[in-house]
Amino acid sequence: MNVLIVLAHPESQSLNAHLANFAAETLREGGADVECSDLYAMNFDPVEGPQHFSNRINSERFNAQAEQRHAFETHTLPDDIQGEIEKLQRADAVIFQFPLWWFGMPAILKGWIDRVFVYGLYRSNQRFNQGVFAGKKALISVTYGVPEQSVLHDGREGDADLILWPIHFRLYYMGFSVLPPLKVYGIRGGLQGEEADVLCAYVEDIKDEYRERLLAIDRTPALLFNKVDDFDIEGKLKPLAPVYSPFIRHRKHLDLA
Ligand SMILES: Cc1cc2nc3c(=O)[nH]c(=O)nc-3n(C[C@H](O)[C@H](O)[C@H](O)COP(=O)(O)O)c2cc1C
Repeated sequence: MNVLIVLAHPESQSLNAHLANFAAETLREGGADVECSDLYAMNFDPVEGPQHFSNRINSERFNAQAEQRHAFETHTLPDDIQGEIEKLQRADAVIFQFPLWWFGMPAILKGWIDRVFVYGLYRSNQRFNQGVFAGKKALISVTYGVPEQSVLHDGREGDADLILWPIHFRLYYMGFSVLPPLKVYGIRGGLQGEEADVLCAYVEDIKDEYRERLLAIDRTPALLFNKVDDFDIEGKLKPLAPVYSPFIRHRKHLDLA
């Protein structure tokens, strides 16, 4: 099995970097081939724009999707993007390791998605369960500053599963089978004494759980999302289609309660 680990953290001594290294070692011990994209170490440029396109289809007015598609089809994508796409094509599974920043992924990772999931690689008739990466697994491993209680469904910081849904949906859009995420809560720096000991013990427990999950990555059931055929020609959920999340629901379910 080939696994790609995408790490989005600026500090090589962070817990996020530690978890990415731990995943790589564990998977290699289990017999997998592992590649890493350490986005800060690569100095990855997350800002999509005209400066990245040398062979423009329209040099007067920049249209990101049109230029992405043209560059993909004419094999003129920037080398860094072409390299990332080839890593994805080689991978059977992709792990995204990042801290939750402002209820989402760090900008460098969002920009990686903007620039690497190029239009042309996917098409409008190739998405969800028919997506270009169908058959590949995706797993996000995310750390939080806040404790678990505050990201449960009645928590002050909002339901963690709902906050992660848009991230998962991007991956499912590309066809990935999205596995249940690893969520690591309450990661705060500067702790001392007993509080630091409790956090260390928690991280060791998390690593035990993560090891089991990594070694079972090829046989873990994926999260459920609607399939292409659940929608009508206008993109509306068909009346008898199942509902898996408040993000896509029947109109009679507009009341989220
Ligand atoms: C810009 C920024 C935004 C953050 N936003 C959140 C947030 O929305 N929710 C949260 O639980 N923690 C938030 N945090 C805390 C980080 O998630 C936490 O420090 C990190 O997960 C710890 O892992 P690390 O030691 O590898 O950095 C934020 C931190 C930064 C720097």
